[in-house]
Order: sequence, then structure tokens, then C-alpha cells
Amino acid sequence: MISLSKIEKEIKQIEQDVTNCRRCGLWKTRNNPVAGEGAVTAKVMFIGEAPGYNEDMQGIPFVGKAGKIFDELLYSIGLERKEIYIANILKCRPPKNRDPLGDEIKTCTSYLDKQIMAIKPKVIVTLGNFASSYVLEKFGFQAEKIGKIHGKIFRIKNLLFDARILPLYHPAAAVYNPNMKDVLTQDFKSIIKAL
Ligand code: URA
Repeated sequence: MISLSKIEKEIKQIEQDVTNCRRCGLWKTRNNPVAGEGAVTAKVMFIGEAPGYNEDMQGIPFVGKAGKIFDELLYSIGLERKEIYIANILKCRPPKNRDPLGDEIKTCTSYLDKQIMAIKPKVIVTLGNFASSYVLEKFGFQAEKIGKIHGKIFRIKNLLFDARILPLYHPAAAVYNPNMKDVLTQDFKSIIKAL
């Protein structure tokens, strides 16, 4: 029998808790929860906003249009999905892809907090305003709009954790805007620098 590492067990438990979660109303309209995906030993953890249509149908993060761009960006810096971890601020799709509500973020992010502390990545890449504000503020930084802070590295160093936060534009911003794809391609290079 394969024995699961402590981290794998913690991550599996979080996934199970997310599957059974009814803490906010989003469980009523979701098809599948999207807890997260990837290597529990990942050095780089990406945090997006919330599942969209395709993610909700498949239960996997970043598999729609933004996901295709995300995969291209990963490839451009020589990383593969199997060596990173991807999670979202919200684990269930908000109806019609509306923005996450404050209460939903407050209730749902205990899962994300546990994922971060189980995986302890060296670099946390936050995609877009919602993920960037949440993670920066959680670690005591003042969050500003992503247009101002994208590509800037924030260092976390305390007794429990030594890591860097790198806020970037959300790949969805590049779906209809090739200039944004260029910015993201440049900014993605900072992930390797931050490692
Ligand atoms: N956008 C996100 O923020 N997360 C996903 O998983 C998909 C699209």
C-alpha cells in the first residue's frame, strides 16, 4: 500500500472538507468544487480568483480560456502543471462568474490558508486583484491595485515561513488583450528570479 506523506494527507483532508462544504450559498449552484490541483511539494503556488464555467464542470482549476493562457505562460518559463500547485480564493463558482463577495472570501479562505501552510511554497504567485489583496494583507502588506504592484516581489519571513509573494495580472486579462499577454510574459520571468 502506498503511504501518504503528512502534507498529502493534509491536502486530501482539505479537498474532502471543500467537497462537503456548505458554509456559504455557493454549494447550491456549483456543479463541482475546485479545491486545487498539483504537487504537494511545489515550490511555486499560484492563487487565482474563483472557478469559472469550465472549472466548475471539470472540478479542475484553470482549464478554460484563461487556463490556456496560463499553461502557455507556465511553459514559457519551463514549468509544468505537475510541479506547481494551483488554488483559488473561492472553491466554488460564483453564479455567472460574478466577483467574489466579501463574506464568501472570509468564509472560504480558511481552506486556502491551510493549503498555503501545508505546502509552504517558496513563491506564492497571486493572479489578479482579489488573490493579491487577500494574500498580501494576510501577510501584513498593504495591498494596492494590481496595475501598480504587478511584478513586484514581497518577502515573507517569520519563524514559520520564508517565502515570496509575487502579484501578477490575472491571465483572463490577456484573453482579449495581447498587450496584457506581453506584460504577463515579462512578469512570469520574475517567478524564476524569486525562486
Ligand atoms: N479563473 C480563476 O481565477 N481561477 C480558475 O480556476 C479559472 C479561472
